[in-house]
Amino acid sequence: MLLSNDISRKTMAEQGLQQDLTGKLLEWYDAHARDLPWRMKGGEAADPYKIWLSEIMLQQTTVAAVQDYFIKFVGLWPNVNALAAASTEDVMKAWAGLGYYARARNLHACAKIVATEMAGKFPASVVELQKLPGVGPYTSAAIAAIAFDIPAAAIDGNVDRVISRYFAIEEPLPQSKPRIRQETEALVPEKRSGDFAQALMDLGATICTPKSPSCDICPWTDQCSGRLRGMATALPLKSKKQKIITRYGHLYWIENSKGEVLVRTREAKGLLGGMTEFPSSDWFRDTLENFEAPFPSSWKKMMGVVEHTFTHFHLELTVWKTQSEQPELKSHFVPRGELAGEALPSLMRKVAAHVLKF
Ligand code: ADE
Repeated sequence: MLLSNDISRKTMAEQGLQQDLTGKLLEWYDAHARDLPWRMKGGEAADPYKIWLSEIMLQQTTVAAVQDYFIKFVGLWPNVNALAAASTEDVMKAWAGLGYYARARNLHACAKIVATEMAGKFPASVVELQKLPGVGPYTSAAIAAIAFDIPAAAIDGNVDRVISRYFAIEEPLPQSKPRIRQETEALVPEKRSGDFAQALMDLGATICTPKSPSCDICPWTDQCSGRLRGMATALPLKSKKQKIITRYGHLYWIENSKGEVLVRTREAKGLLGGMTEFPSSDWFRDTLENFEAPFPSSWKKMMGVVEHTFTHFHLELTVWKTQSEQPELKSHFVPRGELAGEALPSLMRKVAAHVLKF
């Protein structure tokens, strides 16, 4: 008897805390929500297509980087049927520069499934959403909450930080993830679940920022254990990261006598799959191996290197230029002025900028 009373008291106390925190956060969100192009304005019904599109774009990418791409995509393809009917080439071109190109391939594959097998309607359940290409645990929860108001916990890096600080979780990431999930799930309200998800993201992005959080204007400041213990800024702790390796390669910039530049399409699978590139050697680990010409010609080494950091490695490319009319590299020539319209990823745009500035 005593036990069940204890349990019910605890549950009620927890419920009170949950309602208090949720209420404060939603009140703050009503006044301070960021005006983002995929967000519905005043009473507008949520459009699952726009929410899905924004969430795929926002994976591993900042809001600032995504906004213009989102507007461009919605302009070109205003609904999932239109996107499904687009050519892969046009989708890759429109995505060029946003990075993590597997996302674009999955986006297109997903649009085709929703258009052809689901009559153009995204499923309204976390489990069904997660069966779609490119939709993982975080994205399915975010779409379910924002598009369909399903009480799902969408936990991204911002939420990891906010929750770690609020509960003063000293265990480092990623080991603390199960605890963060448990605490977040207990906070998700039955109503306005989508606003709650977005409010937590906004709180993390604008107030509970990584380096200098603005605790004085945070709606949760009074009860935040991290702040009360003077450790908010130090949290979340992270397990030591492995240092990422550097790879090195030679890049071949080949122009014909008309000033056109040689490009080719990468294999569909793997890093930068399906994107356009300037040909290059293998990307060697640890050291730059000697230059070996891909075909006999008069090659000139350019000053400097082009650097780019991928998730798992850093890359340094040395650029070699030559003039040639018909090299056999399964490729084609593109006028310099049309390079911007090619599906060139950021790395290759850096290469073009490097060459064209000399
Ligand atoms: N990051 C990921 N999804 C987001 C969203 N819907 N709003 C703001 N930031 C986000």
